[in-house]
Amino acid sequence: MDIRDRKHDHIELTVDGRSAYAVPTGFERIRLVHNALPELSYDGVSTAASLLGRRFRLPVLISSMTGGTARAAGLNEILARFCADNDLPMGLGSQRAMLEKSELEASFAIARQVAPDLFLAANIGGQELTKGWTTDHTRRLIGSVRADAVIVHLNPLQELVQPEGDRDFRGIADGIARLVDDAGVPVVVKETGAGISGAVGLRLADLGVRAVDVAGAGGTSWGKVEAFRRPDGDHRFDDWGIPTVDCIQQNAPLTRRGVELIASGGIRTAEDIAKALALGATFTGIAQPVMAAAVQGGREALDTWLATLERHLRMVLVLTGAAEPAALDRTHLRIF
Ligand SMILES: Cc1cc2nc3c(=O)[nH]c(=O)nc-3n(C[C@H](O)[C@H](O)[C@H](O)COP(=O)(O)O)c2cc1C
Repeated sequence: MDIRDRKHDHIELTVDGRSAYAVPTGFERIRLVHNALPELSYDGVSTAASLLGRRFRLPVLISSMTGGTARAAGLNEILARFCADNDLPMGLGSQRAMLEKSELEASFAIARQVAPDLFLAANIGGQELTKGWTTDHTRRLIGSVRADAVIVHLNPLQELVQPEGDRDFRGIADGIARLVDDAGVPVVVKETGAGISGAVGLRLADLGVRAVDVAGAGGTSWGKVEAFRRPDGDHRFDDWGIPTVDCIQQNAPLTRRGVELIASGGIRTAEDIAKALALGATFTGIAQPVMAAAVQGGREALDTWLATLERHLRMVLVLTGAAEPAALDRTHLRIF
């Protein structure tokens, strides 16, 4: 299958919500504690938060999504302008395609071209780091988009369900360690929705990664996306994975080792963001709702989505008595 068809399928199969997990994130088991005496003003609270040494308007990374086709180039341009104008960090989709076909590089580089100051993260699959990966690949991955960080995605579930996917996951840890040595920018490791356990998080910390993005179950199911693409329609693994709240709880100790913890996978509301931070995450990431807004309504829809999210986050901060996202902790939660 041509990589361009696959990218097209991925957008079509996710934007309408048909590929959402049936298992919940776990946020529904948690309530934020209402503070009737917050002693804060709506305009005085700050929604800003830090990721990898830079401060952003909201604790929200626009997660890695696309590139490699003409349509993806247009979407990357919209997303990059949106993120730059609103001071949000952005991840590019997997750059494997452009490393195989250099003519596809422009569909990723457009993000940097239109937004010179944007915090932009490169993206590559863990498996790629095992197959004859060289320092030249690392240089192109990062240099072509002048990336501020590089995100490695781990996705064994997606690969195994995907008819044309990889079947051999040996050697990825060594590949990550080499990338940490060569990259010259922080290395972040993420899943794509099946989650990162505490044990895997610890191994990643030992490899020297600067941040772990849990991408847990409860949002977009990549087992489900790939099942829709299978000729035999085998949907057995649609709900495989570690729910996002579990992932955050298991990986919260990483922050004591100086590893930043990004919560993602089904983050949909300002309350989800606040709950994730109160559980110990340092930042959050959102993918599907952003792509859906961009595809269905372009820049206007993205602006409306963000304005609502920001207003709600400001309300949540006041109503929990937290002057800024970093002030949220376990005292702001009741877990049922
Ligand atoms: C259209 C689309 C394309 C994606 N492509 C990539 C990718 O190339 N690399 C990657 O690391 N993750 C990719 N993801 C996964 C997201 O970054 C994210 O981890 C996952 O969708 C869970 O977040 P969500 O529930 O907010 O969608 C993609 C997600 C979407 C919706």
